[in-house]
Amino acid sequence: MDSILVTGGGALSGEIPIAGAKNACLTLMPATLLSDQPLTLTNAPRLSDIATMTTLLQSLGAEVSSLQGGQVLALSSHDLNNLRADYDIVRKMRASILVLGPLLAREGHAVVSLPGGCAIGARPVDLHLKGLEALGAKLELKDGYVHADAPGSLKGATHKFPFVSVGATENVLMAATLARGTTVLKNAAREPEIVDLAECLIRMGAQIEGHGTSTITIEGVDRLGGATHAVVTDRIELGTYMLAPAITGGTVELLGGRIDLVAAFCEKLDQAGVTVEETARGLRVSRKNGRVSAVDITTEPFPGFPTDLQAQMMALLCTAEGTSVLEEKIFENRFMHAPELIRMGANIDVHGGTARVTGVERLRGAPVMATDLRASVSLILAGLAAEGETLVSRVYHLDRGYERVEEKLGACGAKIERVKSQ
Ligand code: UD1
Repeated sequence: MDSILVTGGGALSGEIPIAGAKNACLTLMPATLLSDQPLTLTNAPRLSDIATMTTLLQSLGAEVSSLQGGQVLALSSHDLNNLRADYDIVRKMRASILVLGPLLAREGHAVVSLPGGCAIGARPVDLHLKGLEALGAKLELKDGYVHADAPGSLKGATHKFPFVSVGATENVLMAATLARGTTVLKNAAREPEIVDLAECLIRMGAQIEGHGTSTITIEGVDRLGGATHAVVTDRIELGTYMLAPAITGGTVELLGGRIDLVAAFCEKLDQAGVTVEETARGLRVSRKNGRVSAVDITTEPFPGFPTDLQAQMMALLCTAEGTSVLEEKIFENRFMHAPELIRMGANIDVHGGTARVTGVERLRGAPVMATDLRASVSLILAGLAAEGETLVSRVYHLDRGYERVEEKLGACGAKIERVKSQ
């Protein structure tokens, strides 16, 4: 298993191009299953999660070609020959459950493995299943698989999600595009990835209104066609790299960055004393003198502060002046980076879903272990600010969500290299 070696201390300066969003691409790819016409996605990120979704779609009979070094994905579901998503693939990535709604809507039948838990929480899929049942799906759980049928076809309905779920909104939204009649989804997620999905589905011929608000209305159509769609900018990669100059000092321009994707996060950066400016090409972030100030954070569904930036923000606040309180409201076990940051000299107290972080003047490099995707990048950020060397192991987590991290940070003057396993 590869590791990343970071030698901390220097301020960063330069520019970093931000890729297309992993989480958007992972829901746009299964949208191919809704149509027998080609779907082309541009601005796709080059990540192992995308490769996993490719394998899953191919196992169902879809064609997926990776063009222009992976930045363009050409998908076609002309001849689906298998309606069963196997445990061996699904267990690698929870987003695999997103094939269920589209398969069911187009084919009337699907068998999809339950994904199981993951390090940051139990993460059930009950909200996905209840939403599909509201559209008339008949579901049975057997042998670890969801066996789903839609006799006749799915039927439009009004459904209120008991709480906000990104994945459940995506799954039911996709299914509703081919349901008979009108579907109204209430308490829907408002994330930019949902808006991106809806825009792509509209290009394919779907009739959708209200995406980006908590009520989405879908008028079912008989069939969807082909489309070409550019994946929205990855707001989590954007926020992560915005934190790099915030934690080391210096100035970095994030190419393709947009304030509207990270507004709540920018507000907190501003309170901490980090400068964010819009430029013609994206966002410029700088921190000139002295330490940042402590700020309190509560993670919430969009447009609130994203849970996917909590670990990275904690790395910054480890070096702030004063005590910050971080409340994690989305996942029950998402502070696994805290013990690793403590090994680097951070002062963090975790009680349930709350972490109190009292800033120290300087972190110190240490060997640390990544436990999940965002935790691993938070340790790299901490390493950039720390004295000496930090060796982050288990970076396969990182490769799921960040492309060419060493290259992107290295271009701004970071001392960072990948250490290949023997
Ligand atoms: C997506 C993102 C993930 C992000 C999360 C929250 C993708 C591929 N992943 O995950 O990076 O951290 O949104 O912004 O887009 N829940 C249930 N039952 C369900 C579904 C969810 O109880 O059926 C719970 C989850 O355990 C969690 C909360 O709802 O506590 C929110 O999860 P959800 O928004 O569904 O996250 P994902 O779509 O899995």
